[in-house]
Amino acid sequence: MSRYAKILGTGSYLPGDPVSNDELASRLAKSGIETSDEWIVSRTGIRQRHFAEPGAKTSELGVEAARRALESAGVAAAEIDLVVVATSTPDWIFPSTACLIQKALEAPGGAAFDVQAVCSGFVYALASADALIRAGTATRALVIGAEIFSGILDWNDRTTCVLFGDGAGAVVLGPSDEPGIMASRLHADGRHESILRTAGRVAGGEVTGHPYLTMDGPAVFKLAVGVLDAVGRETVEAAGITLDQVDWLIPHQANARILQATARKLGIPGERVVTTLDRHANTSAASVPLALDAAVRDGRIVSGHKVLLEGVGGGFTWGASLVRM
Ligand code: ACO
Repeated sequence: MSRYAKILGTGSYLPGDPVSNDELASRLAKSGIETSDEWIVSRTGIRQRHFAEPGAKTSELGVEAARRALESAGVAAAEIDLVVVATSTPDWIFPSTACLIQKALEAPGGAAFDVQAVCSGFVYALASADALIRAGTATRALVIGAEIFSGILDWNDRTTCVLFGDGAGAVVLGPSDEPGIMASRLHADGRHESILRTAGRVAGGEVTGHPYLTMDGPAVFKLAVGVLDAVGRETVEAAGITLDQVDWLIPHQANARILQATARKLGIPGERVVTTLDRHANTSAASVPLALDAAVRDGRIVSGHKVLLEGVGGGFTWGASLVRM
């Protein structure tokens, strides 16, 4: 009998109180940066975001999301033999954030590693954990997307600092006789590395380069819609179903106009698209598991539903997973 991987539970965590566009605009105004709720909502669809406290660590957000996912799965931390964390904002250069989360959960002994694929990170991590479970290398996995993007934002750049938020989402995967993860497809094209990056590094005890996120917004927009359409179709076909059989589309929550254009191209009606962007903003690798958990907990996504998860981000990277819940 074939062995597959299935999502057993989901969880998420958002730090602190939401920060509205008006509140953010008045904070930025203190340093002479002009923006408005009207501009942010009309260009992006974002209404609020959460920010971690200064000094907070990505692993702390990830641990909270992981605990909630374990609880909903009815799995004890001690049963976890694989932790994969998607993040571009790790606590440290090393050890990995996955090792730090494994330590906090008191679940030693299994494998733990980080995946760095920026906003596609969760889909990359899910596909990696799925492969390891199917191969028999792991049995119960925690797959986490966790980010503190507020730490890499240039607060003097209004074209980027209004777009992002902090948070974490997680799923517990376990073995199954039937496909839970029905198919995944991953891609990258490093030739586009310059349109979205944080091109800083630590060397000789100093930060060199540019340690803040930079983005060519229109170039990202154009590429994102094309690749999300293509990889969505490719993944659904690989799963042996058709787009009209997809119950829910959960694209990376970057921008409402990207979400709408992607759904339109895929022919998936708006009421079958999960959108949390308005409440969470763009939380990079955390955005897809945060949205998945929100729709599971509010009862929209139920057992048996087929959900198309899609990521796209810096690298340039993109990918999708078709999941039967
Ligand atoms: N408040 C007020 N005005 C602003 C702000 C702001 N926060 N940011 C930019 N503007 C101004 C610009 O200065 C410009 O003014 P000008 O015409 O006087 O020069 C004007 O608004 C228009 O700027 P554009 O960059 O042309 O705005 P655009 O309509 O392209 O929207 C956006 C920008 C929202 C970033 C858009 O390009 C986009 O959606 N890109 C997709 C990228 C994205 O969402 N990235 C998220 C991260 S990437 C990822 O997760 C995959």
